[in-house]
Amino acid sequence: MDAVVGLFLLLLGVSHGVETSCDGRQNGTQCYGALGGTVVLQLMDNASGIFQYQWKHNKTHILIWKENKLVYNQIENRSIFTPSNGTFRINNLSRTDSGEYKLEIHDSAGRISEQRTLQLSIQAPVSSVRLVSECLSPGKIRVSCSPEGGDSPQYSWTLNGHTLTDAELLSGNNETNSITLKPNISGRLNCSVRNHVSSVSSAEEISTCDHSLLICGFLSAVAVLSLVGIGIFFYLKKKKHEKAEMSATARRREYSENTFQMVEVRSSSDH
Ligand SMILES: *[C@@H]1O[C@H](CO)[C@@H](O)[C@H](O)[C@H]1NC(C)=O
Ligand SMILES: *[C@@H]1O[C@H](CO)[C@@H](O)[C@H](O)[C@H]1NC(C)=O
Repeated sequence: MDAVVGLFLLLLGVSHGVETSCDGRQNGTQCYGALGGTVVLQLMDNASGIFQYQWKHNKTHILIWKENKLVYNQIENRSIFTPSNGTFRINNLSRTDSGEYKLEIHDSAGRISEQRTLQLSIQAPVSSVRLVSECLSPGKIRVSCSPEGGDSPQYSWTLNGHTLTDAELLSGNNETNSITLKPNISGRLNCSVRNHVSSVSSAEEISTCDHSLLICGFLSAVAVLSLVGIGIFFYLKKKKHEKAEMSATARRREYSENTFQMVEVRSSSDH
């Protein structure tokens, strides 16, 4: 039953986007939330003992807590504040939720007794990754890692579970989105793409780039083209030859007729 409920919550979580959490009790903390997802920010230990505090986003009030109760929540429809553990949960995050958040705790005399800020950055999560490999001559293979979505993606590669080394790389390095492997490198190549709110990876079995098929195809194309070319050459040559022969015959005929006539003429004059 627990497993079923757990699975249900997991599915619910997935369908509602990515959830991140951040401890903002230290001044100047950098927090990240996923676009369309949820962030759980820890603002304080326990709000119950605090007389009054305000929480502002870019200088606009978001929360006002006074005399042990919440008197104002600007984003009530998509957030929950839990006083007992000091967490503020914001759902359906948008890019405008990023920026500076400032907590000001006041004493009963209205003086600021404590204040701290946190930075929230909203990033689109990486949704999927595609590996595209292509053979380069001779036997080298180039692999590109293409993520779908995702702000500020960071790449990392492994081959058979270990980080790619310079000895295996012809170009690129362990953090580029495209690499070229040296000849005769094979195994299971994995590319992970991550940012602060997501991590997705994709793997592919890489074998030595086999050019035989490609070369076969290329060579047969060349052979066919050459045969056709030779055929055309000889056909044209034959045509030209025939033409030349025809005109030569014609010329010869003309010439012989002329000489015959000349001979005739001469012989007639001789008589
Ligand atoms: C929060 O503080 C109040 C008053 O100081 C205390 O009664 C309560 O037990 C505390 N709650 C937690 C979860 O620590
Ligand atoms: C708050 O400031 C940040 C950074 O300047 C900005 O990206 C964000 O859109 C602002 N949000 C609102 C609601 O003003």
